[in-house]
Amino acid sequence: MKAVGQPLPHESARGHVTGDALYTDDLLLRFPGILHAWPVMAPHAHAEVLSLDAAPALSAPGVVTTLTAADIPEGGEGDTGPNRHDEPLFPSEVLFHSQPVAWVLAETLDAARQGAERVRVTYRPLPAVLTIEDAIATGSFHSPPFHMQRGDVDVALSPHSLRGDLRIGGQEQFYLETQCAIAWLDETGGVALHSSTQHPSETQEIVSRVLGRPRHQIAVECLRMGGAFGGKETQANTWAAIAALGAAKTRRPVRVRLPRRLDMILTGKRHPFLAKFEAGFDGDGLLQSVKCSLYADAGWSLDLSAPIMWRAMFHSDNCYFVPAMDLTGYMAKTHKTSQTAFRGFGGPQGMVVIEDILDRIARTLDLAPEIVRRRNFYQEGQSTHYGQPVKDAGRITAIWDDLLDASDFAARRTAISDFNAANKHRKRGIAITPVKFGISFTATAFNQAGALVLIYRDGSVQVNHGGTEMGQGLNTKILQIAAQSLGLPLSAIRIMPTRTNKVPNTSATAASSGSDLNGAAVVDACRKLRNTLIPVAASLLDCDADAVCFDDGRVYVERTERSVQFAKVIEAAYQQRLPLFAHGYYRTPEIHYNPATGQGRPFYYFAYGSAVAEVELDGFTGDTQILRVDILEDVGDSLSPIVDLGQIEGGFLQGAGWLTLEELVWDKQGKLATNSASTYKLPSWSELPPAFHIRMMKRATEPGVVYGSKAVGEPPLMLAISVREAIREAIAAFGSGGIVEIDVPSTPERIFFAVEHARPKRLSIARAKVEAAQR
Ligand code: MTE
Ligand code: HPA
Ligand code: MOS
Repeated sequence: MKAVGQPLPHESARGHVTGDALYTDDLLLRFPGILHAWPVMAPHAHAEVLSLDAAPALSAPGVVTTLTAADIPEGGEGDTGPNRHDEPLFPSEVLFHSQPVAWVLAETLDAARQGAERVRVTYRPLPAVLTIEDAIATGSFHSPPFHMQRGDVDVALSPHSLRGDLRIGGQEQFYLETQCAIAWLDETGGVALHSSTQHPSETQEIVSRVLGRPRHQIAVECLRMGGAFGGKETQANTWAAIAALGAAKTRRPVRVRLPRRLDMILTGKRHPFLAKFEAGFDGDGLLQSVKCSLYADAGWSLDLSAPIMWRAMFHSDNCYFVPAMDLTGYMAKTHKTSQTAFRGFGGPQGMVVIEDILDRIARTLDLAPEIVRRRNFYQEGQSTHYGQPVKDAGRITAIWDDLLDASDFAARRTAISDFNAANKHRKRGIAITPVKFGISFTATAFNQAGALVLIYRDGSVQVNHGGTEMGQGLNTKILQIAAQSLGLPLSAIRIMPTRTNKVPNTSATAASSGSDLNGAAVVDACRKLRNTLIPVAASLLDCDADAVCFDDGRVYVERTERSVQFAKVIEAAYQQRLPLFAHGYYRTPEIHYNPATGQGRPFYYFAYGSAVAEVELDGFTGDTQILRVDILEDVGDSLSPIVDLGQIEGGFLQGAGWLTLEELVWDKQGKLATNSASTYKLPSWSELPPAFHIRMMKRATEPGVVYGSKAVGEPPLMLAISVREAIREAIAAFGSGGIVEIDVPSTPERIFFAVEHARPKRLSIARAKVEAAQR
């Protein structure tokens, strides 16, 4: 029986729909006397706190206490910054609009909110930096810029050159379950937490720092998350710290759960970017050089902006060999939420720029964009601009050609031309774009994982690992991996919630490497257990150790029917006083990277894929419909095909949302205007392409990765760049081709104006209206 590779439903799928699958806040009822927390929020984007008097809150009914800087215990530090300590819990200088300056704890959430309104704070408003342009003008950056270079870039030496700007919007993670933590003092005086966090070990670290207690005093558990998408990689910590601080002060359990509006105005998003680029190319469209400055709007604190900027720079080539490349990355310090991880982690921003450039090259030379793209693909033996050989470069072209064929690209192109010739105000476009995404944390030390596997005397198994479940199906994959490794039915195995007291010092579940890392650690633990059990089984079966194999809940003599129940072997091992639990450990081999030189092999391997998108635009409204999408994704040998399919569908749609719908608007005061689902347009069922053909590459075994699989969590998001490129083509069709400049996201409004710009003058609707009004 094979467990790995089986198309199983998500292990909690049933619970997700029945409500049996519990999330952090569902545990509320288990904590009688729990206190609720509400922040006192500053009404300025940048201000000095002149005075703060929390005492009036105590007179509000139901209020139990307040939390201010005075409540940081002896030895504790009131700061939750994950890298740089630049995130004071109780700031004396407000650095973004609505930043909490104090908290109120009460018997009910409403009482806490009413108490917070009574807290008296006086501020001296200061000028705020609210855009990347403001930051450039005032020199407001978190760090000196990063630089990465190959060769000397002199665009003027190329036969052709172009230059341009691209503004790229941010994105709200909009996980269904908002940030949440519950903290209490356990029976032995330690601090325990349930936290919706992608990184329980870091949540433990931050709570330990804030309370000034060693880490062994803190235990963090994450049952599962109702989505995270990077938004809980570092940004779950603050809420956990407030809950822990409240519990330590009051000795009562404390719950911090952000309602949607607070979650949106207080937590970081995908980084908005500004790219200023120039590119040199020859008459065939071959890239000769690219010079690009990337500016990220990092917000008020550093958070993960540095590795995000590195990843943007690592992906500024996408699938293309650029002989000379010169990249500079700036992290603008603005008075906004602290932008953070979001599926793709800077990769999408880097990639969308090079794809924009390639399309401009094609339009400049009047060549088909898919021809120009293909000509520039990496060839076997070539290396990236940071010196990593592109192993399996052949897969890029193989996937591309297969998908062009399978999607009937050429014939549809012709049909689209006919459609466009026949329709003045509706136009269609089609585009194909590739993805090459580097797999591994670029911070090399994060590429390690542990597991703890326990076998009980009845042969049933508990698996603990350091990864967290956020809906991506990690636990389904781990279940399959453990079942396969021990030759047990799925029902014999139970995956335990992630706890820092089972596996210590874990990495965030991020960088799409959750199953690569934790899966390999589980395999290692199971291998050790099998090694313990093999001699026991061999003696029970009276065979050579080499002939022992584990399958179907039994232990067999290879290629025979002679077998014994797994549980029997376990009991025999117990009687022989052998350990029936093992830890597993894995660290990714061969990776290294030197940020000082910008060179190395940061990624263990690349995940590849391509997508074809066809869209139709309405020239009157700028409205877009995605008509059809075809995807071919390289997931190696899929660990769990239904889970992977869900990741590809969801990732693609989330990418399409970022590129076409989701627009964050901060007002002139630096207040987030789009702070709810009514003002922030998300993709949903209605945006699902009516024809959505997804395939995974066959015979794609990835050597050296758990069961030959490849990471799948993030790469498909960037396949949605095909939608943006198809939209640009459709816009061009309103005129006579040519370069289409349009910022991300291409909302209906932006599309409308881009169409206006592209249309021949006599067909411009806006111009006609103005003229009509003047008559
Ligand atoms: N899928 C779901 N359903 N929910 C999520 O929050 N996060 C994504 C991706 N897929 C996410 C998801 C992100 S940002 C990452 S890095 C990976 O899942 C993390 O999980 P993995 O490493 O196990 O793939
Ligand atoms: N990806 C996601 N999260 C991370 C990374 C990365 O490369 N590095 C540090 N945190
Ligand atoms: Mo994903 S952005 O690496 O959590």
